[in-house]
Amino acid sequence: MKHISGKNLVLVGFMGTGKTEVGRLLAQWLNRRFVDTDQVIAQREGKTIAEIFQERGEKYFRQLEKVQAEELREQQNLVIATGGGFVLDEDNSAALRQSAFVIWLTAELSVLLERLKDDDSRPLFKNEKDFAALFLSRGAVYRRVSHVQVDTSGKLPPDVAEEIFRIIDGNGANETG
Ligand code: S3P
Repeated sequence: MKHISGKNLVLVGFMGTGKTEVGRLLAQWLNRRFVDTDQVIAQREGKTIAEIFQERGEKYFRQLEKVQAEELREQQNLVIATGGGFVLDEDNSAALRQSAFVIWLTAELSVLLERLKDDDSRPLFKNEKDFAALFLSRGAVYRRVSHVQVDTSGKLPPDVAEEIFRIIDGNGANETG
């Protein structure tokens, strides 16, 4: 584990790339505490993410993300799955990158649409056109904040987690910068 000793392992990427499931698996395998930023927010508010967006608006949700980013800044040895928009805020991404190995989970747009087609838990997945535009606009951000990229298209979460495991064990490629 030469890349990550002590560092947080952070998963970033678009909705539907499997950050939560992959993160949970990695945390189990690495015997680390798992933090899913959306789950923490939902728990604290006692509401689903969709309810928070609907009742309080996106701006309020983004403030809750900021609070969490500050809390996570000082912590170590975690596996963190971020909500898809968490790292859009530069202070948030700086806080997360403080001491972290950041992995960008990607997938082809068609794969994401297929995975999410029956999902109504995501307030920013309203229609395919807006989803596609958001998808395109986010790529540069994820690339900038991440150290490596892992394509999840056609793979199940355990396959992706295994691939990441190999990368952090020192045998992986895919460096993004
Ligand atoms: C969002 C992604 C969601 C959730 C919220 C906003 C985004 O998380 O945080 O609906 O802006 O991309 P997932 O990436 O886990 O779906």
